[in-house]
Amino acid sequence: MPNFTAVTSRAFILISESHSTSSPLSAHASGPLRGHLRPPGDKSVSHRALILGLLSVGKTEISGLLEGEDVIRTAEACRQLGARIIQHGAGAWSVEGVGLGSLLQPSDTLDFGNAGTGSRLMMGVVAGHALIARFDGDASLRKRPMKRILDPLLLQGAQVIEQSEGGRLPLVLQGTSEPLPIEYKTPVASAQIKSAILLCGLNSPGRTVVLETEASRDHTEKMLHYFGASITSEPYGSHGRKITLSGRPELIARAVVVPVDPSSAAFPLVAAIIVPDSQLLIEGVMTNPLRTGLFETLREMGADIEFIDPRVEGGEEIADIKVSYSKLRGVDVPASRAPSMIDEYPILAIAASFAEGETRMRGLSELRVKESDRLAAIAAGLKLNGVSCSIIDDDLIVQGSTVQGGGFVETHLDHRIAMSFLVMGLASKQTVTVDDAQMISTSFPQFRSLMQNLGAQFS
Ligand code: S3P
Repeated sequence: MPNFTAVTSRAFILISESHSTSSPLSAHASGPLRGHLRPPGDKSVSHRALILGLLSVGKTEISGLLEGEDVIRTAEACRQLGARIIQHGAGAWSVEGVGLGSLLQPSDTLDFGNAGTGSRLMMGVVAGHALIARFDGDASLRKRPMKRILDPLLLQGAQVIEQSEGGRLPLVLQGTSEPLPIEYKTPVASAQIKSAILLCGLNSPGRTVVLETEASRDHTEKMLHYFGASITSEPYGSHGRKITLSGRPELIARAVVVPVDPSSAAFPLVAAIIVPDSQLLIEGVMTNPLRTGLFETLREMGADIEFIDPRVEGGEEIADIKVSYSKLRGVDVPASRAPSMIDEYPILAIAASFAEGETRMRGLSELRVKESDRLAAIAAGLKLNGVSCSIIDDDLIVQGSTVQGGGFVETHLDHRIAMSFLVMGLASKQTVTVDDAQMISTSFPQFRSLMQNLGAQFS
């Protein structure tokens, strides 16, 4: 049996070191994309599987784990907090947890690289334990707001010992072994804020309640329930949810099957829609209704997207997706849909560039605080490639037509900006180049090879 743990750590070091120089990549007009593929496991579910494995007693066996750099960083942090984590084969990992309340004091900085989700969820975990941990990340993560996470954690009893300007990384957090039960209304629809509060509240002697006016992805709630916690979710207002967690459950290790990430499947899916004569079958994609806003929007635009064999696997809804080249028309995307497709606006903007007429995407303020200021990065990239667009307040308006291409796009350490503009280049008249394709490994390490297998041309 090969020593996969060693291989993984070496790969991780190599990935980290290689980020010091950038690596441009160009996408060229390609023939039809055809065939079938299985994109990698869901990033949100992968982070949570490792973290709940850490907090459980027993061995959590995970299959289909995303082996992207973001998730590897979370695995490293879980190791520092006491978990024994082993890779047994491609996507097959086990986590022997130390159990809620028994985490170890980390001896080193928890460095999350580019990973917003890993760092923020882990702040919740640390906040609910008598530990002191230093959190850090790359230049992109150091720019992202953490106050929105720290505010509720402070109410729960954690303390911030050190922080960078405006509540940013690097920061030092001191947790408590007796988190206070709180009721908290999240100021924005954010699964990361909700999850940090719930993960801290796990070790509270009382009940923790999170209110959200727009429902955000519910993987934390589903997985906590699956691992044995007492947690309920009920409607709150017209689009929201009230989540109630009873503290101090005994979390029991369970087997987790990670479904395919719809946010990664989005790239080959849109590529097939905009490259003439394409047809793809994308296997095993998660179709959790809180993640499917892109599919709904593309269908409204006229895209031929069919869910085949819908089923439930590992507690999540999944389906194979058949997608074919389609003529698109512009649509008006309501702000209320944003939480269910928050990571998909860069690739939706690419689809909108090829549509007939105007697409208006409303209520995108949260895009300004992602891995980059995505609103600005999308608009700049579109303009460089001859697409007319504007930002009015928090709305992005794209005028679709034939796309010229020819641009050299700045990705600002953002994997989804990189993949989106590479997809644009497959269907535009001239080559599209991104300044750095390395960050793609944070969420979709096999992007280039899987796309090339389907007929995509990169150089
Ligand atoms: C995520 C939540 C979203 C999303 C991110 C993953 C999660 O962030 O953009 O990629 O796994 O909880 P917000 O909570 O900031 O909306």
